[in-house]
Amino acid sequence: MSYRYCPFKHELGRLCKGLETATCKCAILSSAKVYLRHGRRGEKIPWHDPGFSERMLREHLSQAHDAASRRVEIIDKQVAWIHAAVLSGRPTRLVDLGCGPGLYTSRLAKLGHDCIGLDFSPASNAYANERNRVDQTRCIYLRQDIRMAD
Ligand SMILES: C[S@@+](CC[C@H](N)C(=O)[O-])C[C@H]1O[C@@H](n2cnc3c(N)ncnc32)[C@H](O)[C@@H]1O
Repeated sequence: MSYRYCPFKHELGRLCKGLETATCKCAILSSAKVYLRHGRRGEKIPWHDPGFSERMLREHLSQAHDAASRRVEIIDKQVAWIHAAVLSGRPTRLVDLGCGPGLYTSRLAKLGHDCIGLDFSPASNAYANERNRVDQTRCIYLRQDIRMAD
């Protein structure tokens, strides 16, 4: 991950400044700072924070890099492989834990699978639900912490 694509850059640009050549340091420093601010033990990335999740959604959907989600052409290949090699092309019930904006579930649903996506990012969950509504793909997207999910 380069500085240019660091998901923390908007909020913590000052901290990141001067580290533009670092590969991952700015993310480490930034997440340490975010961690201090959010303070929940074991959580270094505040995925469920509304502002952070908005910024992360932009990174997930970006076609300039693969740092958050993979780019569409890669996802298409991965989904084709999951469908053919893992699921043998047979309609299957799937759960995607940490589904983000639903880039995999939406495609798998179009191939005939029943998909449930769990993610606690509010922006990603809203995006996934809106795409689901528009595309009429009938996925179920739940805004849940996968550590607490039944
Ligand atoms: C790197 S993103 C990957 C998203 C998606 N799988 C993709 O490849 O497009 C990781 C996702 O996991 C979610 N996540 C992380 N910890 C989680 C938790 N405890 N419960 C629910 N979602 C979580 C984040 O909100 C984020 O959307």
